[in-house]
Amino acid sequence: MEKISRPFSYIRYDHIDSLDPKDHALLQQARRATSLAYAPYSKFRVGAALQLSNGIIVSGANQENASFPAGICAERVALSTVSSQYPGCKIEAMALSYDNKAGESDHPVSPCGICRQSLAEWEQRQSFPIKIILGGLTGEIYIIEFASLLLPLAFSAGDMTV
Ligand code: THU
Repeated sequence: MEKISRPFSYIRYDHIDSLDPKDHALLQQARRATSLAYAPYSKFRVGAALQLSNGIIVSGANQENASFPAGICAERVALSTVSSQYPGCKIEAMALSYDNKAGESDHPVSPCGICRQSLAEWEQRQSFPIKIILGGLTGEIYIIEFASLLLPLAFSAGDMTV
């Protein structure tokens, strides 16, 4: 019997102004993208902004539906846009923000489980780390070195090979 531990760490900043200029701009874009959400049910408007290796920033926002499972998260809206509009382009970083119309938006929130799975596979496919920047409309910021840190023991394509 053996207990296996995997370390998890992230960087915390008190304020967006402490970020380097590229991360600062990406988080601001994620904050702006919250206005593109269609979230009449949850009132929780999420914005994602992806920094591409060609210099372009792609953003996305959550799109809900009266049939709740048909809704899609901001992260996967943005990821799908990259596949469709900039195929082959690497994603260097993703910023995530939110505007909670039913409460506060003053602390970082982290991607949901499905989005973690999608991000992990993207990272694997492109063989390049995706830095994750998390922040509300105000308050502290977390930076995670790369996306798959958020999903230890992930299920992946390699598990299906014989
Ligand atoms: N949501 C996202 O867009 N991303 C996440 O990582 C967490 C949740 C959305 C889905 C739904 O529209 C709303 O936030 C409340 O769960």
